[in-house]
Amino acid sequence: MKKTRTKKNWIKEHLSDEFVKRAQKDGFRSRAAYKFIEMNDKYHLIRPNDRIVDLGSAPGSWSQAASSLISNNGKIFAIDLLPMDDVKNTTFIQGDFRELSILQKLEELLENTAVDLVISDMAPNISGIKSRDQAMINDLNDLSLKFASDWLKPKGHFMVKTFMGSGFEEYVKKLRSLFNKVKIEKPDSSRDRSAEFFLIGLEKR
Ligand SMILES: C[S@@+](CC[C@H](N)C(=O)[O-])C[C@H]1O[C@@H](n2cnc3c(N)ncnc32)[C@H](O)[C@@H]1O
Repeated sequence: MKKTRTKKNWIKEHLSDEFVKRAQKDGFRSRAAYKFIEMNDKYHLIRPNDRIVDLGSAPGSWSQAASSLISNNGKIFAIDLLPMDDVKNTTFIQGDFRELSILQKLEELLENTAVDLVISDMAPNISGIKSRDQAMINDLNDLSLKFASDWLKPKGHFMVKTFMGSGFEEYVKKLRSLFNKVKIEKPDSSRDRSAEFFLIGLEKR
């Protein structure tokens, strides 16, 4: 009974949500597009010919938004556990970013050429056990940062979703050691009840 009511509330909230309506009108696959668009408007993350890596990309709204901002010389490399429909100028790999074989596949596609922007919206399936969930999020975010550290050009940017919890301070410290500026943001389009927020590393050293 409780579960049904919660589901009904979610559907009601979803249908009346301003960003859901905008996403439908603008042709985005998810309202999540506006989190990235808002951060891009504020920090100018994308430039026309950029090569971008999108981690945890499905259903594809960040890739869609990024694709609309790069020229035909730009390129997006996207990865997700789940399938994703095609997005213009985007090469998609379906697989687990934690697996070495998937990382190697991505690295092969990059052909030894560094990228301009790494974005990660990866979120694990939440188990409800706080310490376990936090450890999984930290693990994914550490891998994203390691990837950004290895593959971003000097002056390249990084954006990653995170949740406040253990390991947060150390993570921000790592970002500060790698980027000239680090920003902590909760976009307007991120639901208030969501504990998520975003870390932006600007200008890799
Ligand atoms: C919030 S969704 C991303 C939404 C996406 N940014 C968009 O705008 O459409 C989080 C995604 O992370 C993916 N994910 C979680 N763990 C992953 C992993 N280990 N490797 C690859 N993708 C993962 C999930 O499958 C899910 O599609």
